[in-house]
Amino acid sequence: MEEQKKKPEAAATGEVTRRETFQKLGLGCLAAAGAGAAAFGYEYLSPNVLYEPSPIANAGKPDQYPSGSVTTLAEAGVYLIHGPQGFYALSATCTHLGCRTAWAAELGIIACPCHGSKFNTDGIKIAGPAPKPLPWLKVWVNDEGDLMVDTSATVAEKQFLRV
Ligand code: FES
Repeated sequence: MEEQKKKPEAAATGEVTRRETFQKLGLGCLAAAGAGAAAFGYEYLSPNVLYEPSPIANAGKPDQYPSGSVTTLAEAGVYLIHGPQGFYALSATCTHLGCRTAWAAELGIIACPCHGSKFNTDGIKIAGPAPKPLPWLKVWVNDEGDLMVDTSATVAEKQFLRV
């Protein structure tokens, strides 16, 4: 009778068995699924917030604006006007289709380049298709003495800030 040859143990030979291969493959799949679930969970629990720029503009000290001046705060889209009755701010956005208007100092008016609307320094329309005057915006002085404009807060016309 022939002696049957015994197969040597895998551990003894350093080979990887089929069982070990499938165990490692299963653990890898579990780890990948766990990482994916953690990523989706984090995304789900994170607040879905849009960080927009503040609507409040700091125009600096009032004494830099001489009486009678019209200053364009371009970044805020605002005209800061120092009239005889005090400070006030007008939105620079045309009430027709929302184009950015421009101060035409030589004419003393605010003009829209898109369709020709024109406004006086009170924001009243004097020409063109704009259906409404330019909105007046909230203006105040903060604790440091700076002029502040809130571009998101409109106020009634003729509300002047005396400084
Ligand atoms: S958007 Fe200003 S006139 Fe049309």
